[in-house]
Amino acid sequence: MKKRTAVLISGRGSNMRSLIEAAKAPDYPAEISLVFSNAVDAEGLAFAQEHGIPTKALSHKGYAREAFDEAVDAILREANIELVCLAGFMRIVSAPFVKKWEGQMLNIHPSLLPSFKGAHAHEDAIAAGVRISGCTVHFVAAEMDAGAIIVQAAVPVEIGDTPAALAVRVLVQEHKLYPEALKLLASGKVRLEGGKAVFSD
Ligand code: GAR
Repeated sequence: MKKRTAVLISGRGSNMRSLIEAAKAPDYPAEISLVFSNAVDAEGLAFAQEHGIPTKALSHKGYAREAFDEAVDAILREANIELVCLAGFMRIVSAPFVKKWEGQMLNIHPSLLPSFKGAHAHEDAIAAGVRISGCTVHFVAAEMDAGAIIVQAAVPVEIGDTPAALAVRVLVQEHKLYPEALKLLASGKVRLEGGKAVFSD
């Protein structure tokens, strides 16, 4: 049985698209059963709808953080979701929500964690002068961008790079990396144990 997976987005949704495309393969172990957005006008919602994937949008505005996360959790349970992929979901998720989805929730971040956590990864990588950056898919932990790392891809930082140019180069790798990570989780080849990603054949 394919694992019922929700993708949580806030905007463009290009990583969501790469997951939807990958999950079309008959032997892919996850299916994208729901796309959720906290931004009701997120660009990615239209793509999901065009591909026949149920979507839900609920603005976080007017909600306390934990109350919003409870509402999101109810939406996910209602859709019988088993796995969650945060994909450009620009909200910090609360500790109780993380606990509920522990070991079943992934995030993609556009840097080689643990370097350059937060919302300005490319600016920070360039400012630090690193010559290699990249992207990371990790299990979500209560501390932002700090969960157990599953897979990473390295990307060169070119001389004179702007954050936008680096973001484009990293995004190409993100689109390969996220489907690979979800495949590992959905097929049981990686699991979270004692705060670490544990791999098996
Ligand atoms: C991606 O680069 C993702 O790694 C990043 O936002 C972008 C979303 O693009 N996420 C973060 O910075 C999380 N801290 P997308 O909506 O086209 O997938």
